[in-house]
Amino acid sequence: MDSRPLLFFDSGVGGLSVLAATCALLPQAPIVYAADSAGYPYGTKSEAEIASRVPALLGRLVERYHPRLVVIACNTASTIALAHVRSALDLPVVGTVPAIKPAALQSKSRVIGVLGTEATIRQPYVDRLAAEFASDCLVLRHGSAALVDLAEAKLRGEATDPAAYADILRGLTDQPGGDRLDTVVLACTHFRLVEPELRAALPIAYVDGADGIARRIAFLTEGQEWPSEAVDGLAVFTRVDEQVQHLAPALSKFGLSRIVTL
Ligand code: DGL
Repeated sequence: MDSRPLLFFDSGVGGLSVLAATCALLPQAPIVYAADSAGYPYGTKSEAEIASRVPALLGRLVERYHPRLVVIACNTASTIALAHVRSALDLPVVGTVPAIKPAALQSKSRVIGVLGTEATIRQPYVDRLAAEFASDCLVLRHGSAALVDLAEAKLRGEATDPAAYADILRGLTDQPGGDRLDTVVLACTHFRLVEPELRAALPIAYVDGADGIARRIAFLTEGQEWPSEAVDGLAVFTRVDEQVQHLAPALSKFGLSRIVTL
């Protein structure tokens, strides 16, 4: 029996959206979910900070938990550090990149929005995706650290203000051409966790990469053995404080019943 886990990594709870999609396909997979709470948030950090922090942390996590595969369940870390992590680790690494391709395939108005962190939306990686897959679309971008905080607050069980979501979406719709926006790429893994709130504020199409990543993980692990029964997952935080303690009920809904510090 192969008990090596899948290791998910994010700055906070955002990667739980990718974890949920993966567990739906691979319910027996042992899970280690790592959140860099001491480094949160990533979206307001510089490229240099993320490019040095993420590979170092993943190196430590891999040494400690011996995963079979690593999932960088964070668009900010993936668009900046995926290549560094891949070259540093000797195991499969799956990244998370903005789902611009599926959004462009389904947009009728040919105006799509990329809602991510400030760091993600300025990446050349996003320019390349837009040029390759959405060259006939107007691609609007908006970076929001506030929306990341709202997702974290929701998972701590706090009530969030519906007006805040509408305000954030105006960052897209108020741009020239934004009145024709019909599809928004949730280019930060946190944002799928607040998709119902976004949809209530602006009822258009929202697209993210979580299901595609889950299929990729299933493909890469095809034929591998899994424990015969689902086991409790482990949540690893780089700093455990009161905010993290408040996440415990939400984490247990995602099958993560134990919280430890790295
Ligand atoms: N969840 C992350 C992402 O997908 C980053 C959130 C943050 O720490 O700013 O980009």
